[in-house]
Amino acid sequence: MGSTSVLAKHSKGKKEEDVIFGVNSAANEKAKIVGKENIINASIGAFLDRDGSLVTFPTIEKIIKELPFEDSANYAPIAGLPEYAQAAIDFTFEDYKPANMHIKAISTPGGSGAIHHAVWNYTDRGEKVLTADWFWGPYKTMATEMARELVTFRLYDENKKFDSNDFFVKIDELLKEQDNALAIINSPAHNPTGFSLTYEDWEKVVEGGKERTAGKDKNFILFVDIAYIDFAPEGSRKFFELFTNLPENFLVIIGFSMSKSYTMYGYRTGAMIAVSSSEDVINEFYDSNQYSCRGTWSNCTRAGQLALIKLWKDKDLKEKLFAERAEYSQRLANRAKIFLDEAAEVGLETCPYDSGFFITVPVANSAEIAAKLNEDNLFLVPLKKGLRIAICAIPSSRITGMATLIKKAVDAVNK
Ligand SMILES: Cc1ncc(COP(=O)(O)O)c(C=O)c1O
Repeated sequence: MGSTSVLAKHSKGKKEEDVIFGVNSAANEKAKIVGKENIINASIGAFLDRDGSLVTFPTIEKIIKELPFEDSANYAPIAGLPEYAQAAIDFTFEDYKPANMHIKAISTPGGSGAIHHAVWNYTDRGEKVLTADWFWGPYKTMATEMARELVTFRLYDENKKFDSNDFFVKIDELLKEQDNALAIINSPAHNPTGFSLTYEDWEKVVEGGKERTAGKDKNFILFVDIAYIDFAPEGSRKFFELFTNLPENFLVIIGFSMSKSYTMYGYRTGAMIAVSSSEDVINEFYDSNQYSCRGTWSNCTRAGQLALIKLWKDKDLKEKLFAERAEYSQRLANRAKIFLDEAAEVGLETCPYDSGFFITVPVANSAEIAAKLNEDNLFLVPLKKGLRIAICAIPSSRITGMATLIKKAVDAVNK
């Protein structure tokens, strides 16, 4: 006899082991035995300081603390405060706003909410959604939750360059089967590899997208997940200017998130920003996604929106925040350099890293290797095809030696 279940049919069997939580708990358990100072817990996807505390930007803390409670406690409009929508658009594009396009934003609970609505409103039940073969796990959870299937293209080729060929092979397959091809590209500073598309890669994506839509009756929906953009090098926004003169059936949606860039993870503030050459398409984007907000989470956190508006209106605060962020981006880059230099020295292969919170080592038998590393008090997240190292959580002084340990474990397991 099976176990008792009262779930609806479509919800049966829904369970996901949270690997990251598991690794984190194992690290904490081991810390009780050998002491916290002897543990390297590179599983956490948040920026941690030298002492292991969460990095928070003082400017943001000040703004949040100064918000009048009767304002921040109130409901926000379903689509978000209008000034917030404008601020999210301006902070996203900076100097690279696509020219001559219709642009609208809807507030969402983090970048996750934007992904949710894009999948829900731009694909049908049973259809496929495309992303890279290295991807953030919740893409799959969300697709499955909404009765869609996540399929993948090869993120990078033999030369470790963006595989635009495979991307369009997969897009063409989707367009044969479906009216809409929805592709999610997480760049710059991709999770979990740190990979970024170059400007030329984006040119190929945009040109290829235009070829498949101009004068055709199928639609290309490009979702750009920029959750880590503010930790990428200067100039990483330039590709936005390419989203201009698009055919009406080529829609771009950008997932804006305040989690990492503003250290406001728990405030659940983000937006989906659409760029279209068609007024009809942009208006239906606004109406349908606002409707979906009402039909799911209603409105989003007002305090987060007010904080962004305050920054948007106050040049001094904005400059202060940008300086705080620049300091931490530099620290992140230093941590990455230490790891990557040592990896090169000891011959440990990594996925191509440009910037961001994580570095990934492509390996077979990742679970076994991760378990072996636990014996050395090093805790990493095993992925299907590799090991994810959250350099965002490890101070530079502790990064030295990590690549050597990992290389030894890889060699021992994959003899
Ligand atoms: C790749 C990627 N996209 C989007 C998000 C969305 O985060 P949030 O919903 O907190 O904005 C995350 C968070 O970890 C992420 O790693």
